[in-house]
This record gives sequence, C-alpha cells and structure tokens, in this order.
Amino acid sequence: MEQRIVLLCLALAGAGPCLGSFSDYDYGGMPVMINRLVGEPSVLSLRGRVDANWYRVMNSESCPLECDCPTQWPSAMYCDSRGLTYVPTTLPPRTQYLFLQGNRISSLPPEGFKNSTLTRWLILDHNEMVSNQISGAVLKGLPHLQNLFINYNNLTDIPGPLPDGLKQLRLAHNKIGKISPNAFENLKNLTLLLLHGNQLKTIGEADFKGLQSIILLDLSHNKLIEFPKNLPPSIQQLYVSNNSLASLPQDCLMGFDRLQYLRISHNKLVNQGLPADVFNVPSIVELDLSYNQLSSIPPVHQALQYLYLEANHIQGTDA
Ligand SMILES: *[C@@H]1O[C@H](CO)[C@@H](O)[C@H](O)[C@H]1NC(C)=O
Ligand SMILES: *[C@@H]1O[C@H](CO)[C@@H](O)[C@H](O)[C@H]1NC(C)=O
Ligand SMILES: *[C@@H]1O[C@H](CO)[C@@H](O)[C@H](O)[C@H]1NC(C)=O
Ligand SMILES: *[C@@H]1O[C@H](CO)[C@@H](O)[C@H](O)[C@H]1NC(C)=O
Repeated sequence: MEQRIVLLCLALAGAGPCLGSFSDYDYGGMPVMINRLVGEPSVLSLRGRVDANWYRVMNSESCPLECDCPTQWPSAMYCDSRGLTYVPTTLPPRTQYLFLQGNRISSLPPEGFKNSTLTRWLILDHNEMVSNQISGAVLKGLPHLQNLFINYNNLTDIPGPLPDGLKQLRLAHNKIGKISPNAFENLKNLTLLLLHGNQLKTIGEADFKGLQSIILLDLSHNKLIEFPKNLPPSIQQLYVSNNSLASLPQDCLMGFDRLQYLRISHNKLVNQGLPADVFNVPSIVELDLSYNQLSSIPPVHQALQYLYLEANHIQGTDA
C-alpha cells in the first residue's frame, strides 16, 4: 500500500512534492500533490499544530470567526474539524484554499461563496452534504476551482454543473447510484476522478464523455456488474476492484494506449468470461486479478511487469 502511494505521487506530481497526511483524513485514499510555486499551502489542517488564538493575534487581515488564518498562507482558510453546520458567510475575497473538512455541513446555498470567487481548492470531506441541497449555480460560480473534494458525504448524485477548469474531483465514499449522461462533459482538464465506495451498478455510454485528460479513474467498491463502456482513452490508471464483474467484453481495452495500471481484484471473473486477447495490451505494467474465480492463468502481454493472481482457483505447477 505504501509503495503504491509513492508510485502515484511520482507519476502524478511531476517535480512537485507529495503531501503526507497530517490528520486522520485520507482525501479519498490518494495523496494530495502540492505545487508550492503557485502558492499552494503544504498543510491541510492546522488542528493540533499551533494555538488558534496565536494565529488570530498575529494576523492583521480579516479572518472569519469560524476559521484560522495563518499569516504565511494569506489565501488559505482553515475552517476544518469544528462542527460547523454551514459555510462561513464572511470568507474574505483573498480566499483561494478553503478547508472545511470534518464538519457537519449539509448544504451549499446559492450565495455561499459570493465573496470568495477566487477559490481554487474546496475541501469538504467528512461532512453531510446532500445532493438536493447543493444549489445549482454555486459551484459554477467558482471559475478558478481546480480541486473539489467531497469524499465521505451523503451525496446521491454527481454535483453540478461543475466549473470547466476542474483538475481533481474526489467523490469517494458517498451514496452515488448513477451518473447522468454528459455529467462531466465540460471537464476537459480533469486528471483525477475518485468514485470508489459508491453504489454504481452500470456506467452509461456517455457518462464519462468529454474527460479527455483523465489519468486516474477509481471505480472500486461499487456494484458494477459490467465493465464500464466508452471510457476515455487517456486513462493510465483504472481501478475497478471490489465490484461484481464476472466477464469482460471483447475489445474492452482496445485503444487504451496509455493504460498502465489495471486493477480488477475482488470480482467474480472466470476464465470463460475473458476474451482470448483481452489483456494483450502492451502499455499495461501492472495487472491485478487477485481474488477472482480464475482456474487458469489468462494470456497477458510479454511487457507486463506485475501480475497478481492470488486467491483464485488456479491449480497445477506449470506457472
Ligand atoms: C465582500 O466583498 C465586498 C465587495 O468587494 C466587500 O465590501 C466586503 O467587505 C466583503 N465582505 C467580506 C466579509 O470580506
Ligand atoms: C448522512 O448520513 C449519515 C450516515 O448514514 C446520517 O447519520 C446523517 O443523518 C446523514 N445526514 C444528512 C444531512 O442526511
Ligand atoms: C485547461 O488547461 C490549460 C492548460 O493548462 C489552460 O490553458 C486552460 O485555461 C484550462 N482550461 C480551463 C477551462 O481552465
Ligand atoms: C476489497 O474488499 C475486501 C473485502 O472486503 C478487502 O479486504 C479489500 O481490501 C478490498 N480491496 C480493495 C482494493 O479495496
């Protein structure tokens, strides 16, 4: 697990540093990559770090009563882990990084961010966000938004409309049962989409349409009974572990020239459900087929480096 995280940091962060966890939050299980060159804060919570009153006394700029505002990151508002039931109404216009995780917020009203339209990160993990209480226009009113995290909430739908410039959308561990066609159509720059730990059963043909920059898509821990159709060919890391897949369609990986990591562990795959050439994809580096019902080793491309097959029904010694 540690190793996988390091790999992802290297793969996605480029030269940037990779942020470890400073709190109990896992941000959907993927580390947050920060770019200090553009002023991104390297701390995701101030809880337990320095006395909040100290920040207040040291800072001459306005700071909402519900938040802590460190002088070294004037654009960051730390309003996390304090039982808030609403988004603070006095967020100053300098706000770019808004930390609201670990509260009890269930709604985003239409004027929720009227003074903080420069917001680039909105972190709402571990709240009680409900889909029908997110006002239609509120997120679109944040044209600079790049990272939207709403993991561990009560969402039943994809929130939207979403701002065009979004790069990361993390919606893991909600109760999302379906994606509407074209829900992500305007998100040309989205590179990471976390949807694991939801209740998705099927993926429609147009559900991921428009995601032309997507690198990592995590659909693990859903209720998928068929392999998702029409995935964007830019994908490099595709995770569909812990679903109910018994078979893969013919050619379902055709055209995925950049796919490197494919995880289908903890499903119901049987050999009869695997088309002969399905894993004959030269770009795949790691293929996880563990915890399935395979009785023999399926053919794979010779360039494959890591193949996981434990906890299947494979007998014999010729492997
Ligand atoms: C909100 O913006 C208006 C106009 O820029 C400004 O007058 C007001 O003081 C701002 N409110 C807060 C809480 O910063
Ligand atoms: C969110 O879900 C939790 C657990 O299922 C529940 O206790 C809570 O009442 C829900 N909150 C809202 C606002 O629906
Ligand atoms: C998408 O990314 C490109 C390259 O960084 C940028 O020029 C463009 O403005 C972004 N699109 C949106 C809608 O933000
Ligand atoms: C899948 O579920 C099993 C059993 O609940 C769990 O042990 C395993 O960690 C899960 N796999 C992933 C990739 O989350």
